Amino acid sequence: MILPNLDELIIAIVGIGYVGLPLAMEFSSKEKCLRTKSKISRKIIAYDVNETRINDLKNGLDRTNEFSKEEIEKNKNIHFTSNIEDIFNADVFIITVPTPINKLNKPDLAFIKKASSEVGFAIKKRKVIKKEEKEVPVIIYESTVFPGATEEICVPLIELNSGLKLNKDFFCGYSPERINPGDKNRKISSIIKITSGSNNEAAEFIDNLYASIIKAGTFSTKSIKIAEAAKVIENTQRDLNIALVNEFSMIFKLLNLDTLEVLKAARTKWNFLDFKPGLVGGHCIGVDPYYLTYKSEEMGYSPEIVLAGRKINNFMPTWITDLIFNEMIKRNIPNEKCEMIILGGTFKENCPDFRNSKIHELIEIFQNQNINLTIIDPYLTSDVAVQFNCKTDQKIPTNKTFDVIICTVCHNEFLDIEESEWRSLLNKNHIIFDLKGFVPSSLNPLRP
Ligand SMILES: NC(=O)c1ccc[n+]([C@@H]2O[C@H](COP(=O)([O-])OP(=O)(O)OC[C@H]3O[C@@H](n4cnc5c(N)ncnc54)[C@H](O)[C@@H]3O)[C@@H](O)[C@H]2O)c1
Repeated sequence: MILPNLDELIIAIVGIGYVGLPLAMEFSSKEKCLRTKSKISRKIIAYDVNETRINDLKNGLDRTNEFSKEEIEKNKNIHFTSNIEDIFNADVFIITVPTPINKLNKPDLAFIKKASSEVGFAIKKRKVIKKEEKEVPVIIYESTVFPGATEEICVPLIELNSGLKLNKDFFCGYSPERINPGDKNRKISSIIKITSGSNNEAAEFIDNLYASIIKAGTFSTKSIKIAEAAKVIENTQRDLNIALVNEFSMIFKLLNLDTLEVLKAARTKWNFLDFKPGLVGGHCIGVDPYYLTYKSEEMGYSPEIVLAGRKINNFMPTWITDLIFNEMIKRNIPNEKCEMIILGGTFKENCPDFRNSKIHELIEIFQNQNINLTIIDPYLTSDVAVQFNCKTDQKIPTNKTFDVIICTVCHNEFLDIEESEWRSLLNKNHIIFDLKGFVPSSLNPLRP
């Protein structure tokens, strides 16, 4: 069996969201291989089951805000489609579908299982279409999973739906995505790409494929499981580091110490890690540790530190709201009369992603106590706003003053607020809670 020609490929990307679109754009924008400098001629099929997303992209609209209309329209060799037949011809299939958790914090593999079955069906059709061709397809997973998921769960579904055999009729690999949406400095090509394959040949092909578009280079692991494990521990380590500073905040609050000032001092040591307290939401940092703990428990070990971190980070909304309620009592601000705004609704700064944002929990707690609140976020659009069971706005109203301002997410737009503007927003007995330390200290904000 022969691997496809790297310079002349049809690449199908399955799932065109935060991960799939930048990947499609990167592949389609390269005319020369970064490693060999040879000319490349590739066709990219960007396939997503969400027809609205595909229609938006066909019109140059990327709701993830990663690309402008001009950038999307410039890449002429991407074919956006919701029609599965369009991927039957592909040589390489890259799967970038969601891997969330369910209500019990267990991996929800429904999307990746369905995508695996669909790709299995596609390579069966491919074999019929390309019957004379000896080149076999390569299927690569980029979704975050636990070690073992690709080979133990996904490959059997491909085999079942295609009637084909791994390393005989098709190859497989895993290359975790490490992008950071909203981050304009670290783009896909500037982040080292971990690669792996179902055998040596596949590993080499997949490594060369990514090396053709990733300036930062690639790192080929000895097995698919190592690549899967590497990704899941990157995010678990970050979750735990944030949990640690969140716990420091809980201790320092009792000691009447400003955590952000303590961290500033501690950071002057070369090996002190730079983390800030925060609300860990989204679909990666707060989710991926559960993929690891699930697998660990399946193997008979119940992790302690990883789950302790999750527990602390999940407790943060309650801790923050308790702090604010106590302060409101001290300042005689009755719940029913309190005018509150929360600056930031997304799960992180400068990114329009509201999924799994802990702001939802803050809203629920405050509303249960009859507080009238408004979420302010420049990334709020009308379709997102309806998910919030409260008032929302893209900008801070200028004709009102507030008793409580809670600053949770440090979008660039909030960094630009001048001290005089802050002052014009405040009622006499006001509280400003500044989770990220971006409010001028002259305003005496309450900090973690
Ligand atoms: N967003 C990030 O910052 C990030 C970073 C690294 C890794 N990841 C991981 O990458 C994966 C994808 O994340 P995302 O943020 O891009 O998700 P996303 O929700 O933004 O995009 C996934 C897309 O897949 C589509 N999809 C679902 N099932 C499909 C199917 N069967 N066929 C075709 N399309 C299908 C959805 O419609 C959606 O548009 C997840 O495993 C995630 O953990 C995400």
